[in-house]
Amino acid sequence: MPNQELIVYLNGEYLPLRLAKISVLDRGFLFGDGVYEMIPVYGGKPLRLAEHLERLENSLSGIRMASPLDEGQWVDIFNRLICGSQDQSIYLQITRGVGTKRDHAFPAGVAPTVFVMCAPIAPIPASGAKAITLPDIRWQWCHIKAITLLANVLQRQQALDEGCAEAILIRDGDVMEGAASNVFAVVDGVLLTPPKGNYILPGITRDLVVELAQANAIPLEQRSISLEELRVAEEVWLTSSMREVLPVVELDGRTVGNGEIGPVWARMNALYQAFKEQLRTGLL
Ligand code: PDD
Repeated sequence: MPNQELIVYLNGEYLPLRLAKISVLDRGFLFGDGVYEMIPVYGGKPLRLAEHLERLENSLSGIRMASPLDEGQWVDIFNRLICGSQDQSIYLQITRGVGTKRDHAFPAGVAPTVFVMCAPIAPIPASGAKAITLPDIRWQWCHIKAITLLANVLQRQQALDEGCAEAILIRDGDVMEGAASNVFAVVDGVLLTPPKGNYILPGITRDLVVELAQANAIPLEQRSISLEELRVAEEVWLTSSMREVLPVVELDGRTVGNGEIGPVWARMNALYQAFKEQLRTGLL
């Protein structure tokens, strides 16, 4: 839980969280009409900042909005909110702003609502995670990081209710992504991840894992993974800014591989941790 005295940014002001308020006519509140980013910070430095800001631009243009701030302005805000060198995350959200009444049509001449806060990153389970598969009930523009997350919330909650950490979403028999993560699987020794497209979020962690695999001769293919393949994969992982590279040890109540965290994950996790360490120590 974020501390109530946490300082946050709202529409040009820095103020304690408990004083940060928005109008009930805000389009984020009424329609989920907005986008967001979640950026991990190690040693006071945001990981892959340029890539997160580029995805933000893409999300904004996907909902016909322009970025309200430029890169320098975002960086100033982040630097004021990042506290100390502990691992933390930047959450930033932009909505279409506050209309004068509830109306689906875009309001004219309205300034967007811009909110940013930093919070500590929750510890990642060392023992791996359990996951379930569920039909993907979301819309067709999953590449936009929209705040409209009701389907993701319901599906993540269903996973939690079943004692699992994540729901892996299946569309037309193929793996898309997790409710809040991307998916990798090791099948016949090859690391697989679904290709980018409008049915998955282009995860920044996903791209980093792809890059690390390519740079370190880990065989990798970006191609569709069927549910059947996922069920017999040697390894399954979830990736996200908050969970890094998380091995799945149980899927739909059955052990993944031999039930132990796999060797390809161990290798990738070492590479990922080394990358974070380089960021922390200023080598990136
Ligand atoms: N979500 N897919 C979905 C649907 C996500 O919500 C996320 C991240 C990812 C992974 O993206 P990245 O590697 O850039 O974090 C994939 C964030 C963490 C969230 O909603 O909290």
